[in-house]
Amino acid sequence: MDLNLNSKSQTPKFDLGNMEWPRFDISQIQWSKMPKLRIGDSVAELPIVQGGMGVGISLSGLASAVANEGGIGVIAANSIGMLDPDYYATHKDANAIALRREIRKAKEKTSGVIGVNIMVAVHDFHALLMVAIEEKVDLVFLGAGLPIKNIPVEGFRTAGVKVVPIVSSARAAELIFKSWAKRYDDVPDAVVVEGPKAGGHLGFKAEQIDDPEFALERILPGVVAALKPYEKAFRKTIPVIAAGGVFTGADIHSLFKLGASGVQMGTRFVATHECDADIRFKQAYIACKKEDIQIIKSPVGMPGRAIGNKFLADISNGKDMKIKCAWKCLASCDIKTARYCISLALDNARRGELDKGFAFAGSNAFRIDKIISVKDLLQELKKQYLRAEKNEAGGLRIEYEKTLNRLASLRNEYLNALKNAFGSLKQEYEKDIEKGAAILREECLKAMEKADILKARLIGLFERYASATSYSAEKI
Ligand SMILES: Cc1cc2nc3c(=O)[nH]c(=O)nc-3n(C[C@H](O)[C@H](O)[C@H](O)COP(=O)(O)O)c2cc1C
Repeated sequence: MDLNLNSKSQTPKFDLGNMEWPRFDISQIQWSKMPKLRIGDSVAELPIVQGGMGVGISLSGLASAVANEGGIGVIAANSIGMLDPDYYATHKDANAIALRREIRKAKEKTSGVIGVNIMVAVHDFHALLMVAIEEKVDLVFLGAGLPIKNIPVEGFRTAGVKVVPIVSSARAAELIFKSWAKRYDDVPDAVVVEGPKAGGHLGFKAEQIDDPEFALERILPGVVAALKPYEKAFRKTIPVIAAGGVFTGADIHSLFKLGASGVQMGTRFVATHECDADIRFKQAYIACKKEDIQIIKSPVGMPGRAIGNKFLADISNGKDMKIKCAWKCLASCDIKTARYCISLALDNARRGELDKGFAFAGSNAFRIDKIISVKDLLQELKKQYLRAEKNEAGGLRIEYEKTLNRLASLRNEYLNALKNAFGSLKQEYEKDIEKGAAILREECLKAMEKADILKARLIGLFERYASATSYSAEKI
């Protein structure tokens, strides 16, 4: 806005009267869909990734069911060979053999998006990556360690396999992307950021788990920001997928507002008919109470979240379980100090033998009260998400309309003030009273500044609303 009160001839311009203000009619908006999740050329109709869950909790059954409903289904590779009764004889090769079989089974059951979850910390990490490449899965999710060295990037690219590291901090994401850019002149295709409410192994120190500074909502925006320079440099979109404690569609909606393009969920998929675990594993989820869910010290060297039981109580009371180690599957596991084999304990739990193992679970597992189908779960999440989106848009419209009214009264106030002030200013000028002019100038500038701020805020509101809803507002 231009105002030069030093010149007698110039009248201040206030262009609000001619401005175009967007008008919304939210009743006309089609509230029907969650946004899709695109990772490279893989497109999931729903922005929901079923987290890989080992040992044997997410296999071809669960992964294909999720993919058939439009989400991303993930087979967990770690210790998958334990499905084979001859595991202790075939050990090292058993995982690769079983993984190949599960990928093929999943692909027979679905044409949707299928991924594989591989822990960086396992000794057969590369053998499992090779299976994923040879079987041309859509995605590999790489957790429990930083996937930096000796990554077969060329193999991934040739086979069209997209790579998604799982991190728990912006620092870890930056480290991976910086190293990839330097070593491979390439970067991963998406990132899962897993907060401390997740189930299974956690990428946090024990004292960070309940510290609000490390909450998913706090770390997510940092990861999104850390990837921006790489999106620009490598000219690609790198979606960030938020994980850990996501329970409802409203949770998904609020994580999207913080910059997530998708969510990864584990716990909720355990309590589905299609989950590959024994029914007793699922029932442990339904039976557990909030206080049963605890943090354990895992032989992997990381804390983990699980449902407490006698097995875990015995371990923490110092009982040594007899360890039968197949082939030191985990790089960080020390057989001398580990009091039990975690792979065996998790596999026992998968088979329903919870007296010889335990169930990993997210912090919200106690909220689950029944086993439902994957289809029903995803329908429920979709409905809740759309309701949250509608509520937000409604609130935004009220705020917008209030601001428009406020602006209209401000404009009147301003024009009146201007009219009155200029009337007296003219006389004052004629009497050559400079002081009066200075006061008036201050008033005018203040009013215009206020209107400018209001205008910027409104435009901001409009832009946020339009991008959230894909709604193009008609101008008046
Ligand atoms: C039973 C169970 C097993 C899991 N196993 C793995 C695993 O093998 N690899 C991995 O990266 N994450 C694993 N996770 C983490 C999940 O993939 C997921 O990211 C996490 O559970 C998300 O939090 P939520 O359970 O609160 O939804 C596991 C989680 C659970 C509950």
